[in-house]
Amino acid sequence: MKSSILRRFVLVTQVLVLFTLVASFYAFRIPASKDSPGAAAVLVWLSCATLALGLAWLVSLPLMLRVRRLKRMAEGLLDVPLHQNGTQDASNELGALEISLSGVAAQVRTLVDRLRLESARREAILASMAEGVLAVDSDLRIIFSNDALFRSVGGSRKIAENTRLLALIRDTGLFDTLRDVVRTGENRKHRLKIISDRERSFEVQAGPLEMPSGSGAIAILYDTTDIERLEQVRKDFVANVSHEMRTPLAGIIGYAETLLDGALEDEQNNRRFVQIIHSSAIRLNSIASDLLVLSELESKVEPRESGRIAVRDVVESALAIVEKEAEMRGVKLIREEIQELQVVGTRLRLEQAVLNLVANAIKFNLPGGEVRIRVVQDAAGYVSITVSDTGVGIPSQDLPRIFERFYRVDKGRSRQVGGTGLGLTIVKHVIERMNGTIEVQSQLRYGSTFTVRLPLATNAG
Ligand SMILES: Nc1ncnc2c1ncn2[C@@H]1O[C@H](COP(=O)(O)OP(=O)(O)O)[C@@H](O)[C@H]1O
Ligand SMILES: [Mg+2]
Repeated sequence: MKSSILRRFVLVTQVLVLFTLVASFYAFRIPASKDSPGAAAVLVWLSCATLALGLAWLVSLPLMLRVRRLKRMAEGLLDVPLHQNGTQDASNELGALEISLSGVAAQVRTLVDRLRLESARREAILASMAEGVLAVDSDLRIIFSNDALFRSVGGSRKIAENTRLLALIRDTGLFDTLRDVVRTGENRKHRLKIISDRERSFEVQAGPLEMPSGSGAIAILYDTTDIERLEQVRKDFVANVSHEMRTPLAGIIGYAETLLDGALEDEQNNRRFVQIIHSSAIRLNSIASDLLVLSELESKVEPRESGRIAVRDVVESALAIVEKEAEMRGVKLIREEIQELQVVGTRLRLEQAVLNLVANAIKFNLPGGEVRIRVVQDAAGYVSITVSDTGVGIPSQDLPRIFERFYRVDKGRSRQVGGTGLGLTIVKHVIERMNGTIEVQSQLRYGSTFTVRLPLATNAG
């Protein structure tokens, strides 16, 4: 028998049985007398002890067997067989069980550490992802999600596990998609919009997720808001360009045909028709050149002619170009204060920007109105160029949009005075490329003030 405890029990029992036999032998040989009254009692006592020990052995036997089973079970949990170390005694069941259990404990610790590391790695990957990640179980309850998803749904607190999907994102399409993935185990795609602080568009890619507790689904939400907005801007731009070109083109084609159809001989009108063709062609030309300037500004290539620019010279050149037009419209140009300051950039571009601002101030003015120009160094040390007018002003709801391409408050008036709606877009680009800013303040019917701030050229610049 391998078990030392059992062996000890059996040994003790055997010794006691032997002892009982010897005791019984003497008890029968030596009759009870007054001198030895205890012999029979000793015999009874020894018989009882033997019985008790026999019973103890019987009771302890299942316990021994259970301890052995536990040892086997503990060993079964181990990946590798255990080698006994010097401090533990494997010669009995309890010692062997202790060894097995300490082996299991060590392996469980390693396993838990590995799981912790794995979980930390997964958390770090999920947290660093820009895309929202969401996993659901077969009842479409959230198992886990990441911070990006939390931000996308505009939640005020973390998404609790077991939250129902529909309680988090009220999009039945997403619900149906994920249910489909759980049911079929196939990948699916879906598009959805979530309205939190603003409306956002998402493309969802969902796939099956196999878990020990059953099948689920995992979804990755790609934010496509900016891509869609850019695509819309591009479409609007193409539509606007075609629209803006169609008007002068229609004028050119229409009047040229009229002339060809006989109006050439019409002494009274032919000159007027040619003039319309001419002004339409000029308009087409200005749209084309504004577009060219804009695309050049938008391409990130640095202009070669960049250098120090005297702002006063730039302002004077711009004013010289518009002086005639101001006079024609009865608008007075006032140089309020023009300090001698220098900035760094491309002279022609800055001249174009100042020209656009002054031209607007004249165009959107009234006869008898004024345009004031100031070039000073402001309190923060920046070169501040201010163009203010006493013109028609800009409605407050249009103010945030006037720098957009082709945006015009009054399309009819702008077209009439020869605008493309690209002037302020160009100004903004030019100023921002020179690391400056532009601001506008306006009051309807009272006038507008555009303020450009540019970094002063340093001695090193
Ligand atoms: N000084 C101004 N006063 C009033 N409205 C202005 C002024 N400057 C610009 N705007 C408004 O902003 C719009 C956009 O200006 P801009 O981009 O220069 O286009 P454009 O001059 O070709 O119409 C103009 O159509 C006009 O409605
Ligand atoms: Mg303009």
